[in-house]
Amino acid sequence: MSKPINRKNEHVSLSEKFYHDAASSFDDVQFVHDSFPQMDVKEANLAVQVAGLDFSVPFFINAMSGGSPWTGKVNEKLSIIARETSLAIATGSVSAAIKDPSVKDSFEIVRKTNPDGLVFANLGAGHGLENAKRVVDLLEADAFQIHVNSPQELVMPEGDREFSNWLENIQEIVEGLSVPVIVKEVGFGMSRKTILLLESLGVKTVDISGSGGTNFAQIENFRRKNHKMDDFEGWGQSTVVSLLEAQEVSEKAEIIASGGIRRPMEIAKALSLGASLTGLSSQFMHMALDDVDQAIETVHAWKEELRRIMTLVGARNVNELQEADLIISGDSAHWCFARDID
Ligand code: FNR
Repeated sequence: MSKPINRKNEHVSLSEKFYHDAASSFDDVQFVHDSFPQMDVKEANLAVQVAGLDFSVPFFINAMSGGSPWTGKVNEKLSIIARETSLAIATGSVSAAIKDPSVKDSFEIVRKTNPDGLVFANLGAGHGLENAKRVVDLLEADAFQIHVNSPQELVMPEGDREFSNWLENIQEIVEGLSVPVIVKEVGFGMSRKTILLLESLGVKTVDISGSGGTNFAQIENFRRKNHKMDDFEGWGQSTVVSLLEAQEVSEKAEIIASGGIRRPMEIAKALSLGASLTGLSSQFMHMALDDVDQAIETVHAWKEELRRIMTLVGARNVNELQEADLIISGDSAHWCFARDID
């Protein structure tokens, strides 16, 4: 596949270039082993309900692609994986199609390939209700993701410099859109303050998308010719820390975890830290670019592996997994101490 230079193409290529660079905060998390699971593997139920939607497994393909012919082809591959494994899938930001309708089909392909699956549309928090409605209609989306990505915008030479209308836009969308709204980070994580603010606006589903996987400060720095902002590359909270922050405060919002999740043990750890669902981006990109059939097989194997992990901790469902005993160490434990998290 040829891939001319274009921002969306570069994001996909660079996420692949940096795939596996980051240290995982999940190494700080360990399950306590008990010798008697008191259940059988076949009893482990992977289904979850989040944002009023039914997911057959607690992971999905998170927002990445679309906005150019090449990323449209990538979206098609991701959508085939989603369809064949009954995973939900989010498109990348549809703002490219609002600016340039000629790239609409690079997003529409996701719904076309998945007429019956769960599909989420995505836009940045700089957009208001009208655009949100347009992209939800375009994709017949089951839910709408609003991404918040201020560090990425600030490293991008062409990025936004005005953020004062974001909360207003989010509130307008939450109040006016007919499908569930998910507010998500893009790999910089969230704090208690952020989650409380979102809850106060009526946001019911939050994807804390922390660091430890795709690093958009690194990607945008690589795209810059000069004045690289290297110090931004360590900005933000890890996924584990963001989940611990969320556990302290979130009473009303359901939490989705993403950022650096690459395999079933990390999915299980994120769920046991309070997430109801997990999103994987660069891992699915890596698998889709490599071999779609192999990716489908891998996802089926992951479902079985997740059931076995749940059996080891005696969890018949994701609610019970959320109650599993964990030990937190390393930087994540230091963060808990400094922030007075039990
Ligand atoms: C992303 N991500 C993203 N998020 C979003 O809300 N809208 C978007 O358009 C994009 N675009 C995008 C492109 C590519 C190539 C990647 C890899 C990622 C961010 C993504 O949804 C997720 O929040 C982070 O990537 C962290 O997850 P991983 O990649 O560490 O699993």
